Amino acid sequence: MEAIEVKDLVKRYRGNGFAAVDHISFNVESGEIFALLGPNGAGKTTTIKMLTTLLKSTSGTAKVAGFDVGKDKDSVRKSIGIVFQEPSLDWRLTGRENLDFHARIYGIGRKAREDRIEEVLKLVELEDKADVAVDKYSGGMKRRLELARCFIHYPKVLFLDEPTLGLDTHTRRRIWDYIREMNASEGVTIVLTTHHMEEADYLCARVGIMDRGKIIALDTLKNLKDLIGSDLVSLEMNTGSYNVEVFKKLDFVNDFRKYDDFVTLKMERGDLRIPAIMEVAKLAGIEIKSVNLRKPSLEDVFLHFTGRRIRD
Ligand SMILES: Nc1ncnc2c1ncn2[C@@H]1O[C@H](COP(=O)(O)OP(=O)(O)OP(=O)(O)O)[C@@H](O)[C@H]1O
Ligand SMILES: [Mg+2]
Repeated sequence: MEAIEVKDLVKRYRGNGFAAVDHISFNVESGEIFALLGPNGAGKTTTIKMLTTLLKSTSGTAKVAGFDVGKDKDSVRKSIGIVFQEPSLDWRLTGRENLDFHARIYGIGRKAREDRIEEVLKLVELEDKADVAVDKYSGGMKRRLELARCFIHYPKVLFLDEPTLGLDTHTRRRIWDYIREMNASEGVTIVLTTHHMEEADYLCARVGIMDRGKIIALDTLKNLKDLIGSDLVSLEMNTGSYNVEVFKKLDFVNDFRKYDDFVTLKMERGDLRIPAIMEVAKLAGIEIKSVNLRKPSLEDVFLHFTGRRIRD
């Protein structure tokens, strides 16, 4: 079953000459963890806001948990949980009070509420901080509480807009594990947005890469990476005009791409080929500043589709 169906969705903000979301279409299956990945201003938050009924679309349709986001807002709202990009806890209240308030809004009875609050506190390992005011929480603890909160009313679909923004690597890993656990334990469908390739890589089977309002790639990570190739060797060059076409002539190079100050060569067993590549560079008078050998990442996928690096 599809948890989310988006068709030709468009959002133009008043006064902007462009569409922040520009005819996007995608589906997410029930139980999937799906990521919208893209740089600042790509349109990720705008998409999430339309799917969570907080923002009216300009045109197109979207269904969440089977309900139309324009026509059946209440049903959509009852089916979803959200973590916003900007923190939205009440800082004067304790963790437990924040959760309790949220559970009351969803009409969960007292006993069920108490049990569920214990359960979600345990999930994000905040039991011992439950009765401390949120303004005494660290950034990571606040994020964990927000995750607990969005999960409290047994939603079918969770929307997490940049769930690990501004957190250190260690805390991010923990958040990732909670997200996986929520997905595994109750089968909740999760749509998250992120700037981080590793985050999508760790959590998702499928991603949509957004850029300037459009989805430029939509597939499993495996397929997207296969498209890019096995080993990638990037050569960063000192400023100058060089005849980089010489690399194309190497018979082991399967693909060649040129960017501003570097080239990327696709090949098998790149580790064995670097000496030959350096030799060719030397003969052609190309000054190499750095050499990098790697397996393709989502960064390469982004580069492949847009010609730009993700953090422009
Ligand atoms: N309320 C608004 N009014 C006008 N333009 C807006 C508004 N909100 C967002 N935009 C514009 O829409 C585009 C998409 O913004 P959006 O916040 O959806 O991007 P994003 O992918 O979430 O970026 P980020 O990674 O920085 O969170 C941007 O060009 C932004 O300036
Ligand atoms: Mg955003």
